[in-house]
Amino acid sequence: MKALWVVPLCFLCLLFTLGRAADSHLWRRPGGFGLGVVGSNAFPPSPPTLVNLTLVPSAAAKGAVCLDGTVPGYHHHPGFGSGADNWLVDLEGGGWCNDVGSCLFAIKGHRGSSNYMDKIYFDGILSEKPERNPDFYNWNRVQIRYCDGASFAGEGHDAENKLYFRGQRIWSAVMEDLMSKGMRSAKQALLTGCSAGGLASILHCDEFRALFPQSTKVKCLSDAGFFLDVVDITGGHAVRWLFDGVVTLQGAAQNLPKSCTSRRDATSCFFPQNIVANITTPFFILNAAYDTWQIQQALAPIRVDPKETWKACKFNRTACDSNQMQILQAFRNTMLNALQGFAALDKNGHFIDSCFTHGQIYDPNKWYSDNSPTIRNKRIATSVGDWYFDRSQVKTIDCAYPCDNTCHHDV
Ligand SMILES: *[C@@H]1O[C@H](CO)[C@@H](O)[C@H](O)[C@H]1NC(C)=O
Ligand SMILES: *[C@@H]1O[C@H](CO)[C@@H](O)[C@H](O)[C@H]1NC(C)=O
Ligand SMILES: *[C@@H]1O[C@H](CO)[C@@H](O)[C@H](O)[C@H]1NC(C)=O
Repeated sequence: MKALWVVPLCFLCLLFTLGRAADSHLWRRPGGFGLGVVGSNAFPPSPPTLVNLTLVPSAAAKGAVCLDGTVPGYHHHPGFGSGADNWLVDLEGGGWCNDVGSCLFAIKGHRGSSNYMDKIYFDGILSEKPERNPDFYNWNRVQIRYCDGASFAGEGHDAENKLYFRGQRIWSAVMEDLMSKGMRSAKQALLTGCSAGGLASILHCDEFRALFPQSTKVKCLSDAGFFLDVVDITGGHAVRWLFDGVVTLQGAAQNLPKSCTSRRDATSCFFPQNIVANITTPFFILNAAYDTWQIQQALAPIRVDPKETWKACKFNRTACDSNQMQILQAFRNTMLNALQGFAALDKNGHFIDSCFTHGQIYDPNKWYSDNSPTIRNKRIATSVGDWYFDRSQVKTIDCAYPCDNTCHHDV
């Protein structure tokens, strides 16, 4: 039983240790903002905007509840000026719970209970300042909190352990609430998400599109959500094992795309590589080719590396030996190959940089600053904006590490 805890726990530790931007509210931790970001201080560590939590009491009657049965919540910063009728809806990330033990752990915090949710900071793609967020600053900006542990896709109830698996219902209840608060008349909309939330934006993109009339411009973006079905360093399948637990425990199969589940097993349909080419709504994939979560948890999780031969490399890319670097380059190639069917469609865009990082939309120094990562001189925010507003196609892949000198590597 104990081994089953490792993956989600490590994910949390990782986020806490690095103060990573994979979920923005971590920034209020001591040392907070920018902690662990190497060599990027274009923006001073001034506190960004704090946004109140809005709970959704009406969700209770629909059984749309967090793992512990509390009602879900979100944060909304209103749009203004020419952005007043535009909506950016972001899905928070934060790992998954794949067995009873990890779900019972999650309900002791905001990952499984709204009792522990509080105000959060909005920055990067959620910032209301044009100098930090040039294209979406005056839109309505919403972040939906993640408390179901299955990328908003579960459906079930474990009466014995008092656990609710209601991610899909949370999605629907929160969407209904936002529609009643003005999203119904949106002229333009963008669904985003990071990490487990990036996977959720992939799973829910076409449902989001279907909420609006054809006259509304709707697109979606996944940041650090392109989790690959790869073999780990011992030839095992660490992420498949994790996702299998999530899908099975939480009854997610019925909510995964039918175009996939009609042909494949449900767990395969939780992997973006098997579903992104079949999303009909225009979609943007933003991911680091050397996604640090995937290196640490998919390629070389401690479970398959008990002697910790990968420990130095996992947390410090300059400590990787040539064999390890070869495995990392092969991982990048796997990612680029997995993207091909998706990338061939004109409506889609992508930005695959060669940074060692996980999550790039909330941290202003990655998203949009004078020393942000760029590919061919274009920053991430500019690339996403160019694609969203059809200013140009954006199908951008960085050259392999170590050629890029604009990265702020996390490790
Ligand atoms: C946020 O909540 C506080 C109370 O906690 C309240 O005083 C403040 O007016 C709220 N801000 C907004 C924008 O609603
Ligand atoms: C999904 O996309 C793939 C790759 O483009 C394509 O071969 C397949 O026919 C699509 N499946 C469905 C059900 O649309
Ligand atoms: C990273 O690894 C290099 C090479 O082994 C080493 O010189 C350096 O001190 C390490 N950095 C940290 C922060 O551990």
